[in-house]
Parts: sequence; structure tokens; C-alpha cells
Amino acid sequence: MRKAVILAGGTGTRLSPMTKIINKHLLPVGRYPMIYWSLFKLQEACVKDILIITSRDHLDSFQQLLGDGKEFGVRLSYAVQEEASGIAAALSIAKTFVQNEKFLVILGDNLFDDKLTPFIEEFKQQEDGAYILLKKVQNPKRYGIACIDDKTNKVYELLEKPNIKGPAYCVTGIYMYDPTVFSFIEQVSPSARGELEITDVNLIYVKRQAMAFNFLKDWWIDAGTPESLFEANYHYFTREKAAGGYDD
Ligand code: DAU
Repeated sequence: MRKAVILAGGTGTRLSPMTKIINKHLLPVGRYPMIYWSLFKLQEACVKDILIITSRDHLDSFQQLLGDGKEFGVRLSYAVQEEASGIAAALSIAKTFVQNEKFLVILGDNLFDDKLTPFIEEFKQQEDGAYILLKKVQNPKRYGIACIDDKTNKVYELLEKPNIKGPAYCVTGIYMYDPTVFSFIEQVSPSARGELEITDVNLIYVKRQAMAFNFLKDWWIDAGTPESLFEANYHYFTREKAAGGYDD
């Protein structure tokens, strides 16, 4: 797969006031700004053509920090989402960048250890449709949740932040799509929170039986809250220390 989109807009409300002047995806995680981790994962999977979508206020900061992507061995381009009107709304901006290819999307606050390559290979075998990566969580209220039919091993329902308790399968912010996703985005309407939800777009694939999935095997976090941002920092520092990365 050649192309990927990193979504790095939104308001970062849950991390306010840290995100009042600094974009969430530029906050430190381990020894890097958060967005570096998405770039490292794409670099590792040899996905070289990457579009970063962010808000107008923060575009300059991203361009100053990452430039054309040479440092990462990738080609970076940038686009602006004028208002934080939802993940699906942000994704619609990628239409001209994607053109007629299958592509990958990463929510910039999703940090993970799994290699993307095997999942990309699996999606390549699929003629069309979409592909999501799931992870078991204990607090389903915070996430998009996938319901899987044990008999058919198919996703039959997706729920955005359901009011349920106990373990469930979270739909992580790593998605792969065929280019028909852009016409599906046009079919969805704003949710109760006024956003175009990626879950509603994914549901169209589910209803058409065109949604594949797999599970992340290793560590994953959505670093969008103070506690999970702390946990992410702890993870990367501990990992690097164990690998002998720090002198003190
Ligand atoms: O982390 C996984 C979860 O991410 C999924 O399980 C949910 O289904 C999905 O809706 C999303 O939930 P969040 O409530 O965590 O989404 P959040 O508003 O934090 O946005 C996630 C990322 O998307 C964030 O890194 C910035 C980007 N974003 C978000 C919005 C609303 C944009 O680029 N533009 C936007 O308008």
C-alpha cells in the first residue's frame, strides 16, 4: 500500500489546557512529539505517501516540525480541516490525495506496537471493502465498539461510545479503505454531538458485508486523556530503557 492519511485535527478538549495552544499530536510522548509514532509505524510498513490533516491554527507547526518528510524517508503533504466536525469529515478532505487507490488511515492519537505490515498484506488480498483493527478494552464507553458473531466470525454491529459495561472489542483508530469510502461519507449525517462519525461510515461497510477485521496483538492506547497520555509516556520510556536507550 502506498498511501496513508494521518488525522491530527480535532480540539483535544480532554487534554485542555495542554492543548489550548499546542496541538494534541505535538505533545511529548516518550522522546518524540506524538505524531512521530504514527510516522514511524508507516515508515516501518513502507507506506511512503502520507497526508497529514490538521486544523488551520496548527498547520504551520506541523510543517515546521516535519517538512516534506525526508527525515522519515516518506513524502508528506498537508491539508486543513477548517472545523473539528468529525473524523469522517476530516477524512473526506483526503479524496483528491487518495484518488483511486486503497489506503490506510491512522488517528494521530492512537499509539501501538504491532507492525502494520501483516494487516496491510491481508487487506491487499481483499478486492474491495474496508478493514478495521480491534483491541479488547474494559471501558467500552470511551470508544467505538464492534460486535462480532461467534458463529460467522463477522462484525454485525458497531456502536459509538455505547453505555455498556465490561470487556468489549474497541475499534481502534487504524482503518483501511477502498476509495468508495468517500461516497459513503457523503451518505452520513452529523451525530448527536454534531460530528460526522467514522463509525457511521464503517457501518455502511458492515451492512454490505464488506468489513473485514483483525486484532491488534500488542500494546495499544488512545492517548487522548491525561491518564492515557501518561501511560503512553510510561510505555515508551520503559521500553527504551529496557533496550538500553538512556544513559541516566
Ligand atoms: O481511538 C479510537 C476511537 O477514536 C474509536 O474507537 C472511536 O470510534 C472514534 O470515534 C474515536 O473516538 P475519540 O472520541 O477518541 O475521537 P477523538 O475526537 O479524540 O478524535 C480522534 C482523532 O481524530 C484525533 O487524534 C484527532 C482526529 N480528529 C478528530 C475530530 C473530531 C480530526 O482530525 N478531526 C476531527 O474533527
